[in-house]
Amino acid sequence: GRNAPKVIDETGTTENLALTRRPRRNRKAEWARRLVRENVVTTNDLIWPIFVVDGHETRVPVASMPGVDRLSVDEAVRAAEHAASLSIPCIALFPYTDPALRDERGSEAVNSKNLVCRAVRAIKAAVPQIGVMTDVALDPYTSHGHDGVLRDGEIVNDQSVALLVQQALVQAAAGADIVAPSDMMDGRVGAIREALDRAGMQHVQIMAYAAKFASAFYGPFRDAVGTNATLVGDKRTYQMDPANGDEALREVALDLEEGADMVMVKPGMPYLDLVHRVKSTFRVPTFAYQVSGEYAMIEAAARNGWIDGDKAMMESLVAFKRAGADGVLTYFAPRVAQKLKAES
Ligand code: PBG
Repeated sequence: GRNAPKVIDETGTTENLALTRRPRRNRKAEWARRLVRENVVTTNDLIWPIFVVDGHETRVPVASMPGVDRLSVDEAVRAAEHAASLSIPCIALFPYTDPALRDERGSEAVNSKNLVCRAVRAIKAAVPQIGVMTDVALDPYTSHGHDGVLRDGEIVNDQSVALLVQQALVQAAAGADIVAPSDMMDGRVGAIREALDRAGMQHVQIMAYAAKFASAFYGPFRDAVGTNATLVGDKRTYQMDPANGDEALREVALDLEEGADMVMVKPGMPYLDLVHRVKSTFRVPTFAYQVSGEYAMIEAAARNGWIDGDKAMMESLVAFKRAGADGVLTYFAPRVAQKLKAES
């Protein structure tokens, strides 16, 4: 009859909906999507963490981070050259310290000829145009795997800061452009800034691991630097409780007051709310660390054929940008840079 709906196709649709707003219009083709895209990942956003190890022409695979190797200094120089050729702005160095050199106090950390300092010197000599960042924390150097000095079962704050200051000084003297305290001791950013300035190294930047959480996602990193085997207990008396967000803002505020040039949230993907809150609260250069466990999860699933690794990698990175990050430390850095280069 008259009122019977007029079937216009096999889905049973009757009339067009009277929609003024159709969000799908802006998604109708690749050119249209590109036109309205709000965030993009560029090579300028990348910091590449690299593991270094003693030896010559040596690459030692990290089992829990497929595709990532520990590199001897000569190989690390090659990696830095590769990074520079891809226009990656900065690399971050982490040492695997020979167990024989680890002790209670982490004394090797303040040796101006230690592995990291040698790597910095070699890289800055060969590839002066790339930024080199070093990690300030004692864990790769202590026999107990903690980031500070262990005394009577306690990580003592102020004695740890004294050593971290010395560590930052030897790294900066070796040529580190950015020192990055990842230890979460109270007051270390201010103490390092003051010491650097007194030593005439006003130009050395500090990237504070400002909101660093006691996370299970660091597991593969601890394999890479050899602290999983040694770590006594856990790091919850200095790294933050994953349940806390406001506290992260207070940590960032303190590090900025103490002179941090850049701040970081770590881990990355499970803490995007904090990347957003930190950036929108402080409006300072804000970085996220897509940590070893995040890398391992994506790689493991990709290598099993469960997800598309390249797509997951790019999606995770644009999510950091959307949250407000100015940059990301990621083990994917060279792969991302390669991909962006190929597409341009
Ligand atoms: C050490 C340090 C850690 C990471 C960076 N610096 C491990 C830890 O705190 O136990 C983790 C990085 C990663 O998981 O990729 N202070």
